[in-house]
Amino acid sequence: MTNTVAIGIQWGDEGKGKIVDLLAPNMDVVARFQGGPNAGHTLVIGDQKTVLNHIPSGILHENILSLIGNGTVVDPFRLVEELDMLLAADIPVNDRLRISDRCQLILPYHRALDAAREAAKGKGKIGTTGRGIGPCYEDKTARRGIRLVDLTADDLDARIDENLRYVNFMLVEFLHAEAVLKSDVTEALDLARERLLPLAADVPLILHENIQAGKNILYEGAQGSMLDVDHGTYPFVTSSNTVAGAALAGLGVGPKEVDEVLGICKAYTTRVGAGPFPTELYNADGMCDAKNAGKHMAEKGQEFGATTGRPRRTGWFDAVVVQHAVRINGVTGLAITKLDVLDGLEEVKLCVAYERNGQRLQSIPASAKVLEECTPIYETLAGWSDNTFGLTDVENLPDAAKALLKRIEDVCKCPISMLSTGPDRGHICHL
Ligand code: GDP
Ligand code: IMO
Ligand code: MG
Repeated sequence: MTNTVAIGIQWGDEGKGKIVDLLAPNMDVVARFQGGPNAGHTLVIGDQKTVLNHIPSGILHENILSLIGNGTVVDPFRLVEELDMLLAADIPVNDRLRISDRCQLILPYHRALDAAREAAKGKGKIGTTGRGIGPCYEDKTARRGIRLVDLTADDLDARIDENLRYVNFMLVEFLHAEAVLKSDVTEALDLARERLLPLAADVPLILHENIQAGKNILYEGAQGSMLDVDHGTYPFVTSSNTVAGAALAGLGVGPKEVDEVLGICKAYTTRVGAGPFPTELYNADGMCDAKNAGKHMAEKGQEFGATTGRPRRTGWFDAVVVQHAVRINGVTGLAITKLDVLDGLEEVKLCVAYERNGQRLQSIPASAKVLEECTPIYETLAGWSDNTFGLTDVENLPDAAKALLKRIEDVCKCPISMLSTGPDRGHICHL
């Protein structure tokens, strides 16, 4: 029995969807434990591409139960769109998916607040996905959130009125934005009642029964460790804990139920939205390195957000980030993705430490401002001109690629257990 937590350990978009879809056939249950429609997980099978926001990435497989845990935030409009997209592709999603009745609902006023706050921040904005994630998690901890189970509560209407009084005051008086109409909220609640409530379940109980029966569970993270609200580049983070430990609280399972923690990371680094990124080489605002390596990564890696379509910032592999992630998550193995994107570069670099004010730093500073002032200390390795795209046997890799992977293992003090060489389910080497 192997119960595995699979998480992103950079700034998101590491290829979690691809890896989870690939591992799913060895599993009985795949469960999401945090985040919401800010996530965009891409699955590629032949010429068929599927992007999932809420739904676990095992959904395309038969005989696998998909669970959405209490730690997630669910937008009824978007989740229903996702259900319909899968139903149109003949995936019996209503049979395969269950949603925790403790899930928080993202309502139209959360999206309005997200947009108005970002607009008010101007240049200092976080660059959120605009999906209402932050305001929804705020309501959860403020104990005024609306959960799936509340859709049938007698006092729901009164609670919505109370929330709207507060939110509309904030929107109009403080943020100078438009008020949200109650009819828009009611529409979301009605849709959730019609389409999501029939899928509601006691997720911790289902998981417990599966664990008792010796079934294999895959816990699928969203975002990445550097976007974790505690351990990431605060305040340029998302509003949930994205680390492996969050799988437990976000689904209702105990720590003894996890055997492996798979840390998924690209062979380079990307980030969407604002915030420090020490190894950044290239972005849409005009930053570009002399050798065009960052542009090469952005173009060859097709680095555009799966959720928002925004161009991603790109840069070299940052081993300080990955070491931090290995520690805070207890990573037992790395899954390195997008190695093929580095094909054709004359040299490749690995950031092994930072420098600030003449001092060498070996770990991530807590302050985003301090991190912003750090410059990377690089090791430079030879690149390779051969094609690694689609390779399935590490023995066939060019020597220079093997040397890079060996160096990543040594510097990050963690073995590589999987290597992805293309977007398709079949483009994988097991180590
Ligand atoms: P996630 O959010 O972590 O699931 O990652 P995204 O789906 O947002 O972004 C990863 C992108 O890289 C997607 O377009 C994937 O299809 C693609 N991808 C994943 N693994 C590989 C790989 O090894 N090589 C290449 N070239 N593309 C990959
Ligand atoms: P997946 O699961 C990459 C980023 C946003 C922004 C910050 C806060 O596909 O890896 P939010 O909307 O969560 O309040 O935005 O977090 N962000 C992601 N970046 N991949 C994601 O998800 C992300 N989810 C949020 O760009 O910088
Ligand atoms: Mg993504």
